[in-house]
Amino acid sequence: MQYADLIIETHGRVAVIRLNRPKALNALNDNMMNELGDALYKFDADSNIGCIILTGSEKAFAAGADIAAMAKYDYTDTYGGNYIGRNWEHILNVRKPVIGAVAGYVLGGGCELAMMCDFLIAADSAKFGQPEIKVGVTPGAGGTQRLPRTIGKSKAMDMLLTTRMIDAAEAERTGLVSRVVAADKLMEEAIAVATTISAMPLSVAMQIKDSVNRAFETTLTEGVRYERRYFHAGFGTPAQKEGMSAFLEKRAPKFDGL
Ligand code: HXC
Repeated sequence: MQYADLIIETHGRVAVIRLNRPKALNALNDNMMNELGDALYKFDADSNIGCIILTGSEKAFAAGADIAAMAKYDYTDTYGGNYIGRNWEHILNVRKPVIGAVAGYVLGGGCELAMMCDFLIAADSAKFGQPEIKVGVTPGAGGTQRLPRTIGKSKAMDMLLTTRMIDAAEAERTGLVSRVVAADKLMEEAIAVATTISAMPLSVAMQIKDSVNRAFETTLTEGVRYERRYFHAGFGTPAQKEGMSAFLEKRAPKFDGL
């Protein structure tokens, strides 16, 4: 796959999508978001891939939506053109696990895109912020919704209203990221984590992802019912037969993309 604003690699069953507009600190523009959707859908449909990593550069995962492009927009361009809705949320349709591996600036739309990943591994250099208020707009890709659900209202309000950036340690403390690693080990660690996931049965990984995401959309009782359907449906599948046989036979399971 060849893209103007992305670099693509694969490592076994792991796909890496790297945002690549270094001169603009990976500011997210229309072309990049179109390409990102295209790459994500291709890997989601590729049976050789079990987990996807979304990353940026050492300096910036992404410093936000492209201010140079947005500066000339009016309401006809944004509402009429379905700005954000038209191409930012493809990642939410991906059924395979998506890990965000972030370093440097994770700002504005960059932080919002990161929060659409299933979980985040951060370099110790990462800085998270929602500085939209300083460029005269509210966040528009879920910052006022996913941030408080993730780190709580008080921290979210603080970040959104003051534009204060939090570092990787604070992001880990608040649950925004799952792990923090040395910056020069970020990709090694992310690929190792993604390799672990991609050795699991893919169908079960997708069901877990879907159920966890459901938790944010429904009541506890309905969410537990939803989970129970997947649990029951898992019996009789090759993944369940292999996983449970392997345990009883005291050997490692071999799922091979099941
Ligand atoms: C367009 C950007 C950009 C952005 C950086 N650049 N962020 N271009 N959109 N969001 C460009 C700069 O213009 C500059 O280009 C080059 O990247 C390097 O940036 P510098 O500012 O020179 O670097 P530095 O001094 O190291 O400062 C880094 C920074 C700063 C603190 C991250 O660039 C910054 O504050 N950026 C804007 C952050 C922001 O406000 N993000 C939210 C955007 S609004 P040149 O050509 O001059 O070298 C948003 C809305 C989301 O995201 C809502 C919908 C999704």
